[in-house]
Amino acid sequence: MSHYAVFGHPVSHSLSPRIHAEFARQVGVTMDYAAIDTTAENLPQALQAFADAGGKGGNVTLPLKQAAFALCGVNSLRAVRAGAANTLVRNEGQWHGDNTDGVGLVRDLTERHGLDLRGRRTLLLGAGGAARGVAPALLDAGVPELVIANRSSARADALADVLGDPERAHSRYWDDLVNQGNFGMIINATSAARDGNDGLALPTQLSTPRTLAVDLNYGEAAIPFMAWARAAGCRDIVDGLGMLVEQAAASFELWHGVRPDTTALHDALRAEDATLFTAD
Ligand code: ATR
Repeated sequence: MSHYAVFGHPVSHSLSPRIHAEFARQVGVTMDYAAIDTTAENLPQALQAFADAGGKGGNVTLPLKQAAFALCGVNSLRAVRAGAANTLVRNEGQWHGDNTDGVGLVRDLTERHGLDLRGRRTLLLGAGGAARGVAPALLDAGVPELVIANRSSARADALADVLGDPERAHSRYWDDLVNQGNFGMIINATSAARDGNDGLALPTQLSTPRTLAVDLNYGEAAIPFMAWARAAGCRDIVDGLGMLVEQAAASFELWHGVRPDTTALHDALRAEDATLFTAD
């Protein structure tokens, strides 16, 4: 039996144990997958204890992705570009960090929803761990421009800097969004609605009738932004559930060398939660 786990704080709500158990059943891998609640401060000890107990791999969720990245002995280029790790692999006595959030998002949008991202001038709202995870993959997917806006502008500037593509990726002040024209894709990577408040006050002029609106959150935390997107007339509206399943599949493939099918599980999770919007 090999051991895997998701680390987060809080983590009891995480769907990852269920998703990985289903993937393992599907492809015939024998493993267990736990949820381990730890703060960033205690993450070094938690990871060491898990390794000592034979842990082979981990996922990392909020708010630990940047801390996990800093603790890995080796990081993939994807993790380096994000400055955050969501997937850990135990190899030769050290943790190897990777980040599958970006490929998970792009795969969900392009393969599940059949959307073409090239040509979409993109607005990324937020500059925390979630935004960092997806920004490099958006550039790789060929968006012509990536405008990053964050409540605190210094973090948006830092993300634009780390992306190192000043021709395409730059920061703008949140308060100046109304002057930035419109976008073919608008991504909510903030946690504004996660604690139950109303979320963001965004100008409707950001969208056009062809705009794709994406919330990296799912469930109740996605409701305010998706409601805004409907009111603003966005054509396609997608929440983060598909990305969650796809990033998990990419982690699973790193650990087990086999890619699980995600469709049935995604559809089952979607059907269970009546509060989720379905993608248009
Ligand atoms: P995550 O890993 O989910 O990105 P995070 O690193 O704590 O979590 O980042 C949260 C993001 O949501 C940040 O971009 C944060 O903006 P600040 O950097 O200014 O804190 C953003 N955010 C949180 N609450 C917000 C709100 N009420 N309005 C706008 N942005 C908000």
